[in-house]
Amino acid sequence: MKAQIFAFLWACILCGSFADFNSENSAKPCELAHKGENIEFPKDFSFGVATSAYQIEGAWNEDGKAPSMWDTYTHEHPERISDHSTGDDTVESYHRFDQDLAVLKELKVNFYRFSISWSRVLPNADTSVKNRKGIDYYNMVIDKLLQNNIKPMVTMFHYDMPESFNEFGGFTNSSVIDYFEAYASFLYETFGDRIKWWITFNDPYVFCGMGYAEGTFPPLVHSPGVGDYICMDNLLRSHARAYRSYKEKYYSYQRGKVGININPAFFYRKDGQTSDELVDRALQYQLGWLAGPIYNTGNYPSVIIQDIAENSKIEGLSESRLPVINSTWSDIIKGSGDFLAVNYYTSHYVEIATPPEGEVPSKEYDSKIKVSMDDKWRRAKSEWLYCVPQGLEDVLKWIRDKYNNVEVLITENGWSDDGQLDDPQRIDYLRAHLQAVLNAINDGCNVTHYTHWSAMDNFEWNKGYTEKFGLYSVNMTSENKERFPKKSAAFYTSVIDSRRILR
Ligand SMILES: *[C@@H]1O[C@H](CO)[C@@H](O)[C@H](O)[C@H]1NC(C)=O
Ligand SMILES: *[C@@H]1O[C@H](CO)[C@@H](O)[C@H](O)[C@H]1NC(C)=O
Ligand SMILES: *[C@@H]1O[C@H](CO)[C@@H](O)[C@H](O)[C@H]1NC(C)=O
Ligand SMILES: *[C@@H]1O[C@H](CO)[C@@H](O)[C@H](O)[C@H]1NC(C)=O
Repeated sequence: MKAQIFAFLWACILCGSFADFNSENSAKPCELAHKGENIEFPKDFSFGVATSAYQIEGAWNEDGKAPSMWDTYTHEHPERISDHSTGDDTVESYHRFDQDLAVLKELKVNFYRFSISWSRVLPNADTSVKNRKGIDYYNMVIDKLLQNNIKPMVTMFHYDMPESFNEFGGFTNSSVIDYFEAYASFLYETFGDRIKWWITFNDPYVFCGMGYAEGTFPPLVHSPGVGDYICMDNLLRSHARAYRSYKEKYYSYQRGKVGININPAFFYRKDGQTSDELVDRALQYQLGWLAGPIYNTGNYPSVIIQDIAENSKIEGLSESRLPVINSTWSDIIKGSGDFLAVNYYTSHYVEIATPPEGEVPSKEYDSKIKVSMDDKWRRAKSEWLYCVPQGLEDVLKWIRDKYNNVEVLITENGWSDDGQLDDPQRIDYLRAHLQAVLNAINDGCNVTHYTHWSAMDNFEWNKGYTEKFGLYSVNMTSENKERFPKKSAAFYTSVIDSRRILR
């Protein structure tokens, strides 16, 4: 109740100013012209929608589930969530999968990307306790999807580290590599007969950057240029070992694919010049940090290695703040991805910052770059999200050229607003970004899946329920939490049906 009153006040503080902003904003362009001759998506191209466990399941302490660090964090720090809400119940997908399934069927999606809550299936984080009821829940979800001809695609880790392992240091403790490998093997063993698409991690840059550099996501560690780099390093090794485990023990009879999810932006030079070097530097620091080692060299991009080594020396350190990948590890990491999963939302302008900006040390300082947005771009409710569809096309071409045209899955892409059912801005965004994907395909990019974020409105991390990304709205005050389609849902279904982007 308290949360609801607060949400109401919060919404009304914003509604006046947001209305003005909105009318001016909607006049800004959010479109992309068609390029190439082909106007249809290839016949084996798949369309889907995505969600994640903490954002939709609720039932945070039911049926043997142990807390994740997001449970602990939202309970201990209501002041850090815009509307002081939690994911304790959220849209109750743990009890209402049939309602979610009805949404997926109505949308006519080919696949559904969801995440497994580690602490729901393995409450101690290790394999000492396997929670039968948690396992049964995911078996039910997977079986019902398959019965309805919807391919399940699983994210193993979507920010929700079990609290029990978070207390050991989470991704700054290299034991996480063994823990994660054991968790992944358990998932292959339990669900791998039916899951053919595995994504190890979601958005490592967000997870490590906000959790261990900025300290704005749990575990609230403020250690830029050190904590985030160690997190990224342990995460990379965890991913690679989970991949090798699949190839060695499960692939021969399960025949699925394993990849990692990275959230790139494209970068455009603020001075309007066309030299690629600065754009390349920015992309290496964003996408290349993990994609380079996995899909290319087995090591961090050389620009990153050099910058951080130089700065570490100046700071008087005996070793670089960037961990070293030795040849044994390089062999494990190199080639450890069957596909690259991309979450694309927005792009930036970039310029060299002289002198470098940001805390010393930090990624901002090490990279020597400064990013910004353009007032001419249309903005979503989320202050970081602008409609730049050309950026998606350009990111896909960059991946094609740098990583040997590896198979790419767009695993997230979406637009936030207040949750109204009439949502022309979401339709504009969706249409323009689907056009970007089609343009990239027409240009030889190996993109095989598009996933819209999200199936329905849900708990948006630090923004609580104040920023909504769903194709469906959820009545949060009703006992049955009914899901209602927005206009964008019908638009998306028309694309799935016709395999064309209708005007
Ligand atoms: C790292 O995790 C292990 C659990 O495998 C634990 O025993 C150890 O104390 C942790 N290290 C730190 C520094 O917390
Ligand atoms: C690389 O480091 C690992 C420990 O992380 C060690 O087991 C391995 O022997 C090292 N390989 C080389 C070639 O030094
Ligand atoms: C696209 O990726 C698939 C899977 O890795 C691969 O078999 C295929 O050769 C790639 N296609 C192109 C055009 O590179
Ligand atoms: C949401 O549910 C409440 C309670 O059942 C109901 O009064 C309200 O009209 C519903 N809102 C919408 C938009 O359907």
